Amino acid sequence: MVMELRLAERHRVAFEEGKSTVEPSDGAAMFRMLSGFHERPAPFSRHTTGDLWTDPHVSKQMLAFHLNSDSDLASRRPALIEGTVDWLDRRLNLSGKAVCDLGCGPGLYATRMAARGAAVTGVDFSSGSLDHAAEHARRAGLSIDWILGDYLDCPLPSDQDLICLIYNDVCALSPDRRRTLFDRIRAALAPGGHFVCDSHATAQYAARVEETVYGRRLMDGFWADGDYFGFLATFRYDALQLALDRYLIVEPRRVREIFNWLQYFDPAALCQEIAAGGFETVAVVDALTGDPWVEPAREFAVVARAV
Ligand SMILES: C[S@@+](CC[C@H](N)C(=O)[O-])C[C@H]1O[C@@H](n2cnc3c(N)ncnc32)[C@H](O)[C@@H]1O
Repeated sequence: MVMELRLAERHRVAFEEGKSTVEPSDGAAMFRMLSGFHERPAPFSRHTTGDLWTDPHVSKQMLAFHLNSDSDLASRRPALIEGTVDWLDRRLNLSGKAVCDLGCGPGLYATRMAARGAAVTGVDFSSGSLDHAAEHARRAGLSIDWILGDYLDCPLPSDQDLICLIYNDVCALSPDRRRTLFDRIRAALAPGGHFVCDSHATAQYAARVEETVYGRRLMDGFWADGDYFGFLATFRYDALQLALDRYLIVEPRRVREIFNWLQYFDPAALCQEIAAGGFETVAVVDALTGDPWVEPAREFAVVARAV
C-alpha cells in the first residue's frame, strides 16, 4: 500500500499544480489497487475480524452502536435481548449456573444473566467493550469475571453449565475456526452442559446483492476520525450461502481493507457441524423467542448438549 500512498500524494501535488493528468505509472498503480479490490477472493481467504473490533476508532463506533437502543447493527435492541435471556432462563434455569458468554461485547447479555443469579464469565477481545461491561456491572453491583482475549485461543473457564455465542457470531467464522471453537467449547463445558449459538438462516441469504458502493467518509465517518474515501464491494458465494462485504478505506496516510464474511446456515447443517464437536442437538428454536423455529426467514438458535 506504500506505493498507493505515494501515488495519492503525487496526484494531490499534480492537482495543486493545475495538471489534469497524472503519470501513466500512477494511473496503472491506482488501476491495480482498485481492480485487486474488485476481484473475488477465495472463501475465508483473509480475516480482519480483529481490526474491526479492536481498531481504536472503529471499536468506539461499534460500542456506540452496541449501546444504541434503536439500532441492531452491533447488538440487538434491549427488548430483544431481554426476550433472549428470558427464553434461556426458562429453558436452562440460569440461577446458580456457571455461564460463559463468548463475544460478550459490552455485556448486555452477561449482566442480565448475572442479574438472574448465574455466575457469569464474559469473554471478548475488544478492550473498550469489556471496560464498559465491567463498569456497568460494577455500578449494578454484579460480580462478573471478564476475560480480555480471543476466544479461539485464550484460556476459557472450565466446568461451565452454559456457553453461549450470541448474535450470529458463528456466521463470521470459517469452517476451520468453527471446528476449533466447537472443540474448545466442548472442553470447557461440565458434563451435560449446554452450548447455545444463533445464526442467520439461508432464506436471508437470498436478499444479499452483489454491488459496489463508494463514498467520501463512507458510512458517516465510521471507518476513521478524519477524511477518507471508502469503497464497499459485496460478493456472493452461492454454493456456500456465504457473503463477503469487502471494504477499502483510503485515508491520507493509510490504506486498509476489511473483510466481513457472513455465512447463512441451514439448521441441519449447523447442527451436524456442532455434533462433530461432541454435542447432541436438544432444540432448534427461534433466536428471539425460544419457540420452535418455523419461520425460515428468521434467525434461529441451536441448543446443544455436551455428550
Ligand atoms: C456482533 S458483536 C455481539 C456482541 C454481543 N454478543 C451482543 O450480542 O451484544 C460480536 C462481539 O464478539 C467479539 N468477538 C468477535 N470475534 C472474537 C474473538 N475471536 N474473540 C473474542 N471476541 C470476539 C467482538 O469484539 C464483539 O464484541
